[in-house]
Amino acid sequence: MSNLTRRQVMKAGIGASAMFAAPPAWSAEPTPSLRKIAADKGLIYGVATSSGRLAEDPKYAQLVATQAGMLVAEGETKRGSLEPKRGHLNFDGANKILRFAKANGQKMRGHTLVWHIGNPEWLVDALEKKPDEDLLVGYIDKVCTKFKGQFHSWDVVNEAVDLNQGHPDGLRTDSIWYKAFGDRYIDMAFHAARAADPSALLCLNDGNTEADAWWGEDMRVGSLKVLDKLLSRNVPIDIFGMEAHLKVYKADYSDKMISDFMDELIARGLKILITEFDVADIRGPADAVQRDADVAALTRRFLDVAFSKPEVLGCLNWGITDRYSWLSSYPDYKWSDGQFSRGLPFDENYKPKPMFNAMVAAYKAK
Ligand code: G3I
Repeated sequence: MSNLTRRQVMKAGIGASAMFAAPPAWSAEPTPSLRKIAADKGLIYGVATSSGRLAEDPKYAQLVATQAGMLVAEGETKRGSLEPKRGHLNFDGANKILRFAKANGQKMRGHTLVWHIGNPEWLVDALEKKPDEDLLVGYIDKVCTKFKGQFHSWDVVNEAVDLNQGHPDGLRTDSIWYKAFGDRYIDMAFHAARAADPSALLCLNDGNTEADAWWGEDMRVGSLKVLDKLLSRNVPIDIFGMEAHLKVYKADYSDKMISDFMDELIARGLKILITEFDVADIRGPADAVQRDADVAALTRRFLDVAFSKPEVLGCLNWGITDRYSWLSSYPDYKWSDGQFSRGLPFDENYKPKPMFNAMVAAYKAK
C-alpha cells in the first residue's frame, strides 16, 4: 500500500485518485508485494513505467506503487524524449516518474543515454553532418548532472553488440554513434557519465544473451569480446544489464548456458542486473492457461539461475501488466487476433498470473 499523504500526492504531480484507489476487487487475499519480498532478500524488484499511465490509470499506479521497489522509464529517459529539439532538454516525464518514485520510497534507474534507436531526427542529421563530441558527452553531462545522486544506475550504452556486422570485437557498426566516433564512443559515454554522477552505477545493457540458439551464442560471445576490450581500457562499467526478453516458444533455454555466461561476467568483476524481463508467449498453444504455465515455468528456471549468483542485483520487468506491454504491439510478438500477450506478472485486468507466483517463489528461494 502507498504510504503517501494527500500533500505528497499533490507534490508528486500525480492525480490523487491514482494514489488512493481502492484495492482491486479481484483480490480476496492481499497480493504479496514483490518489492517487499525482494528487499527482504537484499534484491531489487522493479518495473518499467510511464508518467502518462501513472497519472491516468489509478489501478495501475497502485499496482506499481505496491509492487515495484525500483522504476525505470520505458521511454521518457531516452534521447528522443529528453531532447526532442536540439538544446531544449525536456525533463517533464522523467521528473514525474522520479517524483512518484520518491513519494513511494522507490529507487529509479535511467534508460538509456546512448542507443542507436529512440533518437530525435535532428540528432541523426547533426551527427551525419558533423560528429561533434558535445552531441554525445555534452548531453550525458547535462542529463547525468540533472539526476545526480538520484538514480541507482544508468544504462549508459544500450545494445552496442552485434557479432555479425564485421567488427573484429563484435561491436554493432550500424549505430549512428559508431559511425560518428568509432569504437571510442562507448569509452567517451561511460567516462562522461562517471564524471557527472559518480554515485550512479554504470551499465552496459544488451539483449538476447539468454537464448540457447545461434543468435544467443553470438550475443554471449560478442558481449564478452566487447567487454574485454572496454575493461582492458579501464572503461568504468559496473554492471552488465541482461535484458532478458525471453521467448518461450521461439527459443530454447539452457540453465547451464545462462549460468556459464553469468559466471563469465562475474569473473570480469561485473555485477549483473536483469533489466527488462518478460516472456513472449507468441506461437504458443491457443490455451492461455497452458501458456501461463509455460511462461511461469521458464520464469522460475531463469530467476533461480540468476538468483543463485550473489553478483545478480535483482530484476526489473519491462512493464508490470499485460495491458501495457510492448509485446502486444510489436509485429514479431503480438497476437494477430488482438489478444494481449501474456508475458508479464499481472494480466490485463491486473490479476496476478502464474508468472507472478513464480517470481515470488524465486525471490523467496534466494
Ligand atoms: O509516443 C508516440 C505517439 O505519440 C505516436 O502516436 C505513436 C505512433 O507510433 O508512437 C509513440 O511512440 C512510440 C513509443 O514507443 C511510445 O509508445 C514509438 O513509436 C515506439 O517506437 C516506442 O517503442 C519503444 C521502443 O523501445 C523504442 O523506443 C517501446 O515502447 C519500448 O518498450 C522499447 O523498449 C526497448 C528498450 O528500450 C531496449 N530493449 C528492448 C526494448 C523492447 O523493444
